[in-house]
Amino acid sequence: MDTRILTVGAGASSGTAITEAATLLRDGQVVALPTETVYGLAGRADSKEAVERIFAAKNRPADNPLIVHLAEPNQIDAVAEVSPSVRPLVEKLVERFWPGPLTLVLPAKQPYVDTVCRGLSSIAVRIPDHPVFRGVIKAAGVPLAAPSANLSGKPSPTRAVHVHQDMQGRIPLILDGGPCALGIESTVLDLSEDVPAVLRPGLVTVDQIRETLSAAVQPHNKKNAAKSPGTRYRHYSPDARVFLMGPGVSDAALLQLCARLKGKAGKIAYIGARPLDLDDSVVHFPLQPSDLAREIYRLMREMDAQHVTHLLVDGVVEEREGQSIMDRLRRAAFAYLLDDAAVLDLLEQPHIARRGE
Ligand code: TXA
Ligand code: MG
Repeated sequence: MDTRILTVGAGASSGTAITEAATLLRDGQVVALPTETVYGLAGRADSKEAVERIFAAKNRPADNPLIVHLAEPNQIDAVAEVSPSVRPLVEKLVERFWPGPLTLVLPAKQPYVDTVCRGLSSIAVRIPDHPVFRGVIKAAGVPLAAPSANLSGKPSPTRAVHVHQDMQGRIPLILDGGPCALGIESTVLDLSEDVPAVLRPGLVTVDQIRETLSAAVQPHNKKNAAKSPGTRYRHYSPDARVFLMGPGVSDAALLQLCARLKGKAGKIAYIGARPLDLDDSVVHFPLQPSDLAREIYRLMREMDAQHVTHLLVDGVVEEREGQSIMDRLRRAAFAYLLDDAAVLDLLEQPHIARRGE
């Protein structure tokens, strides 16, 4: 199959691209579309055949349910059961965060139980904050299921070229809307149990949700993460052994770790904003903390392309949006070093530079 890429912007040609995507989707095909978080691999959420095509294109484990994307809040009632007690919560969250990076989990309706829910009785829904995606949903006239548009086990794509790397020959069309504005997947909030619970942290934070609902909300933790089937699978980590630096790691300790790896390691890279005196053998990506969310998945792909073997990355303060960035970085990390004592401990170990253990 030939995979075409059509650029979509503000101009009239976007209209044609949107119509073309909607026609393919109505016909049960799968198309990659930009959202504000990451690119999505869209298919009709009401069609078993289209949903199976999404799973096949991604090599996705069959029991991992899909998020359904809507164009308007009033479409919720077509896909989910909203009880009178939950309705006011949904209204407050929709009012404040939609369109945007917040996914709500609610009891599901048919036919979606049989298509996207994969054995669960709940369904995840959101309205993406991207005019192209919403335009395509409206033109297609049906809610669209869309997981991130990467092959399972690869980092989420934040640019059309990443989608192309993974989906070339597997899908007919990618709409290129440029780099994603946010770069990290949506917050997943479960409203199907008594106390709302964050199943996956994202750029909408638990504190913002508590403030909006004026109610208790369970933060992301191991117990409720287990309710999100996606977390059962090994998360992507780059080929490199990743050393994540906490806020207490000094420049001196970081340089010491670099020195220890040098010679033993193949290729070392450092992601962070410290003005360190690194020698030329270390590849430096001078990234400010504020750019980390937007760039982290791109850099992970870059690390693999450059065959980096050992990556030192500065973490961010684990507050607000920092929580979701650190969640993704911790999953990718071989070691999370909180402070200099942790670095010194690690330096004591004989095999820190060895990979593939
Ligand atoms: O920002 C995003 O959410 C992106 C864009 C494309 O919208 N989508 C995305 O989809 O990240 P995906 O499939 O890569 O991740 C969806 C996560 C998975 O961890 C899945 O297990 C969980 O949401 N999920 C989906 N339906 C669920 C449900 N009914 N109950 C609990 N977790 C659910
Ligand atoms: Mg994903």
